[in-house]
Amino acid sequence: MDVQQWMNRARQQIESWIQQSVESWQAASGSVEEAMAYSVNAGGKRLRPQLVVAASEYVGIDPERVRDAAVAVEYLHTYSLIHDDLPAMDNDDMRRGRPTSHKVFGEAMAILAGDALLTEAFVLMSRLDAAGFSPWGVVRATNQLAKAAGRQGLVRGQVQDLAGEHQELSVEALSDIHRNKTAVLFEACLSIPALLAEDEGQAKVLSRFGRHFGLAFQMVDDILNVVGDARQLGKATGTDAGLGKATYPRLLGMEGARQLLGDHVRDAKHGLDPNKAQVLEGLLTFAVERTW
Ligand code: IPE
Ligand code: IPE
Ligand code: MG
Ligand code: MG
Repeated sequence: MDVQQWMNRARQQIESWIQQSVESWQAASGSVEEAMAYSVNAGGKRLRPQLVVAASEYVGIDPERVRDAAVAVEYLHTYSLIHDDLPAMDNDDMRRGRPTSHKVFGEAMAILAGDALLTEAFVLMSRLDAAGFSPWGVVRATNQLAKAAGRQGLVRGQVQDLAGEHQELSVEALSDIHRNKTAVLFEACLSIPALLAEDEGQAKVLSRFGRHFGLAFQMVDDILNVVGDARQLGKATGTDAGLGKATYPRLLGMEGARQLLGDHVRDAKHGLDPNKAQVLEGLLTFAVERTW
């Protein structure tokens, strides 16, 4: 299978799911929905929903049935970007090629649009029984996403990331930050379809792949912050150094960071069924070779 073709098709499908969901809000001018739609419609790679789709195919579920989960993870991710860019956090002006939410709508509306996207994600997750999944599967998958988002996951990682500014951290401490702020959401994206299908064994295997995927992904984000092209990335570069962020390039140098990246790519593949892993591995290759 041509993975590039698979990605083009999956992305098209995901864009149409997102569009239908956003259109159902009726975003009047001045409403929180307008600010929500602004950030969601700005695009991005849609990598997390692609992982939901790829994982659903891996466990043999028709991706159409997990569409609400695919949209949910993109909403949750978009919320995290809106809040990550706030002046109190990374204080960024550009995101996804547009001025950041708080630049356009003000800080209060940006905070609220983020809150609403995070909450909307769980509205979507909690109605997955309508796609024929068991109530138990829906509870397990929703629980996984909630844990990934909150104090045991993304929020924890963001707290650690801010506390780590201008600190000399060990590689282990940095890896813990990356796991929490970024990788746990990838773990959730990959395991959600298996949890919906009540297949805990596959959920574990996929979650492990997601951990290495997420760690590799954040490493590339840090590397691109040094060597990437701001226009192509749709966000400013050089900002990590400006904020004194702990990153792999700072800790290990560019070569060391690239080496560790290679280790994660290699480790990610262990445990997957090679007969079914082509798309997942292709997405990982995309994630590490990307320039945006
Ligand atoms: C950026 O994520 C934030 C990180 C976790 C590194 P993406 O690079 O996936 O952002 P979009 O969705 O493509 O804009
Ligand atoms: C990514 O944080 C993690 C989350 C947004 C939860 P970063 O601050 O490293 O990501 P960018 O570089 O701003 O996209
Ligand atoms: Mg940040
Ligand atoms: Mg940031």
